[in-house]
Amino acid sequence: EAVSSSNTKLDFTPIRPVDKLVDEFTVPEGYAWRPIIRWGDGLFDDSPAFDLEHQTAAAQARQFGYNNDYTDVIEIPGTAGKRAVLFTNHEYTNEGIMFSDAQATADPAGVRAVARAAHGLSVVELERKNKNEAWRYVKGAPLNRRYLSDTVYEFTGPAAGSALLANPSDPRGQEGRTVRGTLGNCSGGTTPWGTVLSGEENFNGYFRTSGTSREEKRYGLADKPTNRRWELDDPRFDTRTPDYAHEANRFGWIVEVDPLDPTSTPKKHTSLGRFKHEGANVRIAANGRVVAYSGDDERFDYLYKFVSKGVYRPGTGKADREHNKTLLSEGNLYVARFAGNSPSSEVDGSGKLPSDGAFDGRGEWLPLVVDGKSAVAGMSVEQVLVYTRLAADLAGATKMDRCEDVEPHPETGKVYVVCTNNSNRGVGSNAPADEANPRRQNRDGHIVEITEDGGDQTATTFAWNLLLVCGDPATNQSTYFGGYPADEVSPISCPDNVAFDSSGYMWLATDGAPSSIGYNDGLFRVTLEGPERGKVEQFLSVPRDAETCGPVVRDADRHVFVAVQHPGEEGTFTVPNSYFPDYVPGLVSAGAAVPAEAVRAPRPAIVQVLPA
Ligand code: FEO
Ligand code: CA
Ligand code: CA
Ligand code: CA
Repeated sequence: EAVSSSNTKLDFTPIRPVDKLVDEFTVPEGYAWRPIIRWGDGLFDDSPAFDLEHQTAAAQARQFGYNNDYTDVIEIPGTAGKRAVLFTNHEYTNEGIMFSDAQATADPAGVRAVARAAHGLSVVELERKNKNEAWRYVKGAPLNRRYLSDTVYEFTGPAAGSALLANPSDPRGQEGRTVRGTLGNCSGGTTPWGTVLSGEENFNGYFRTSGTSREEKRYGLADKPTNRRWELDDPRFDTRTPDYAHEANRFGWIVEVDPLDPTSTPKKHTSLGRFKHEGANVRIAANGRVVAYSGDDERFDYLYKFVSKGVYRPGTGKADREHNKTLLSEGNLYVARFAGNSPSSEVDGSGKLPSDGAFDGRGEWLPLVVDGKSAVAGMSVEQVLVYTRLAADLAGATKMDRCEDVEPHPETGKVYVVCTNNSNRGVGSNAPADEANPRRQNRDGHIVEITEDGGDQTATTFAWNLLLVCGDPATNQSTYFGGYPADEVSPISCPDNVAFDSSGYMWLATDGAPSSIGYNDGLFRVTLEGPERGKVEQFLSVPRDAETCGPVVRDADRHVFVAVQHPGEEGTFTVPNSYFPDYVPGLVSAGAAVPAEAVRAPRPAIVQVLPA
């Protein structure tokens, strides 16, 4: 169906791209920004005040964590839009800019414990008196919760309880059924039943392993000290310890959390497979089945789709919601294979369009698990789900340029696959360019648009084309903007996260533009349908060294939310690259002198943009 993009209330004049050395948060004329919550802000009545130079694990466990990524603002039913929960995950930590040299030298184990407590998830209530004012977070609110490294998660699905997830140290009767903590949480998605999915991405970096098996190597697990050295504090981060031999298999999953139930046990769903999940996004098919799309964010890895066995119940009562919370525990798992329709000689890695005027073709969803049975010769269902990358290798999936967010459009059902970049494409013995990944040494990324056959989200075949081949058209001849004139768009590089608004626009958040096109990362609006298809307009720009994450666009309210992750990442504690967001008292504008009382370190934060 057609989607009208013309009636949006969120009108703006695109900002100019901002040079990568500028430490400012930039919004369009007529808009203002303010942080809602920052690293170190207290969530509970007993939370200590943030004390940059004297951090403790006990304090951090009661405060907002570091490097916020996936974000959503979910209104609490029955509060007339005046109360919401903010969900955010905390992907990783930057010890070099979080801690003074003095603290790191005096108490390295203490610093590691703070860093562990800065990982995980946060749920915090927000309030506002009316829709025209910015949300404020509510310290001590009943739904506030930190998910920490000792929070217990329950496995669901066919691999729950399997020997591949069990450790000798597990309690009898619970072998392979639970795990403590979640790591490397990157992007995510909010389900139609109001829970949040979060992807465990770069979990391999947290474990020292024997590194000898084919499976460990395929997942990047190795026998060398980790960067964070948590294996010095807790033997489960060193799987050479026999008691924790399978601990690394307990990470790399999709997590489901119920932000409206602070006592609920979060789940890790084995049915969606184990890999470096960027996130997962769900759409209900016409037949009621729940379809979840997820990308493996590694160069030359794959795109996956899950189709539930059970059927969604649209009711909002407790029984319906509890039923829907079981849907991701059982179903079919597929991996994508793409075929182009142009001669391979026309896809030479230069990024030049083939003679038919499009990077496009057909594709199929190759079965990995169907009707509870393995579709991969020589692998059991448990093996397919725990070692999903190896199963997809055998199935013959297409090697992609790092799938980040993969999200079905809520109205059209078309699926947008964000390939962020792959500087190794076509280099040496690596896979050459193909029509779905058409650039050699792809530094700027591209967007694949998938249309499932018959408009059926559960179909096993599809058509595809590239919506965008990103870059700065001023300096790059191989950009493509859906046919829209390249000299009339904002330059965009390294797309990562996706959101859709109620007017049908797609919004893209970027991660990596400073090193590819020399501008700070930002948030961009993309027109999908009609004569302006492919038009890219920059809405905001994040501070120095930061990536833009978790965009939430409420166009009817003229509100936009972003997570500012790793501001000032390339700086040091002594010489910070960024003072975001505490530039001035009141926390409202960038670029002013830093006052003495401000925290003299960058603080990852959730920002709301609203009319000035
Ligand atoms: Fe954590 Fe794929 O970005
Ligand atoms: Ca073609
Ligand atoms: Ca990401
Ligand atoms: Ca990224």
